Amino acid sequence: MNTNTELTYIFGFNNEHQTEALAGALPIGQFSPQRCPYELYAEQFSTTAFTRPRHDNRRTWTYRIRPSIAMGDFSKIDKGAVRSGPITEVDCPPNVMRWDALPIPEAPTDFIDGLTTMAANGDVRGQSGIGIHVYSANQGMGDRSFYSADGELLFIPQLGEFIAITEMGKLAIKPGEILVIPRGIKFKIEPNQGPIRGYVCENYGSPMELAERGPAGANGFANQRDFQYPTAYFEETEGEHVVIAKFCGEFYQAKQNHSPFDVVAWVGNSAPYKYDLSRFNVLNTVSFDHPDPSIFTVLTSPSSETGVANVDFVIFPPRWMVAENTFRPPWYHRNFMSEFMGLIEGTYDAKEKGFEPGGMSLHNCMTPHGPEADVFDKASQAELVPQRYENTMAFMLESRYIIAPTKFALNTPLRQNNYLACWGDLKKHFNGQP
Ligand SMILES: [Fe+2]
Repeated sequence: MNTNTELTYIFGFNNEHQTEALAGALPIGQFSPQRCPYELYAEQFSTTAFTRPRHDNRRTWTYRIRPSIAMGDFSKIDKGAVRSGPITEVDCPPNVMRWDALPIPEAPTDFIDGLTTMAANGDVRGQSGIGIHVYSANQGMGDRSFYSADGELLFIPQLGEFIAITEMGKLAIKPGEILVIPRGIKFKIEPNQGPIRGYVCENYGSPMELAERGPAGANGFANQRDFQYPTAYFEETEGEHVVIAKFCGEFYQAKQNHSPFDVVAWVGNSAPYKYDLSRFNVLNTVSFDHPDPSIFTVLTSPSSETGVANVDFVIFPPRWMVAENTFRPPWYHRNFMSEFMGLIEGTYDAKEKGFEPGGMSLHNCMTPHGPEADVFDKASQAELVPQRYENTMAFMLESRYIIAPTKFALNTPLRQNNYLACWGDLKKHFNGQP
């Protein structure tokens, strides 16, 4: 049995997990006779429609000290730099864009205050598309908790470790790992030591699921067993607590007289989880040419059109770039899908300068892009021997919907207005000879 102070995990993506912080708190079969063990309240938490097919259905039964509605009324508060799709405050130009990392705040700033939206798409009210935020914080959330009714939150930390205290338990998160918090789950972020910084993809659409393997077979990419879920943890604390909700793109707060982290036991498959990106089993080319980046998809939120994602979460981890007689970096391309990238550590193989850890880039639908001029020159003359690309972890959020930058993203001094210059030295090599 788990105590309520340890960080322990249960494994397996989207399994029906069960966990109790007190022995016997989880009812089995009929409650006896009509009350839950320990006089807890039963509350169902659903992140899909009740009627989704079994394999897509996400729901968890929580057994808690008070039901969630034991709270005050919501009132609207300032949402700071947080925005939601559709972005209408500014036009969405097709330009390639790149940004430096958000600075670490000097004044005391918690996760909510340090959350800034860079871009969004789709429609938060129609439950399609994504919001792309960055966070930069240096203190915990104290007696505040947060949830987004607008979307599932995928955290991609870049700097600093933190503990995520959630209704289903606690998770310790560090750069190189990701955290997914379902739509609606209350949580607070507590930095472990020093400041934290990273990216958050707010997925308004269908919950993230593992990418299919297709002809690759039964192995490779992300494995179910490597996804870690928290064990039940509860606080029986009284005193003022503020719940902040993101709803319809706005922030609301409600007060209550106790901690919302009062779930003593739970059973189900909708719960926060984490994943260590180093466990991703990269399958790259074994003969020639550079495969499409979809081979690096960790998680996907499908849209209603088969094979066209609301959002794909794709990583570019350390890997062998083995191929014969092949230009190794990504090809120049123009895509149907829109691409927002970030860098967790090291360098990215198509951009050796200017794309720093914590930085970001945006290449929208049909906007051309590809390796910078220096990378092209180097790769065109490189000795074609087996090559391992080390010290790197980039990621991409790829979406079927145009990714519109916010007013902040367009106007911030963090934006590199000379980004296009990295392709400025692309020379004409054509001389009419084969
Ligand atoms: Fe691209």
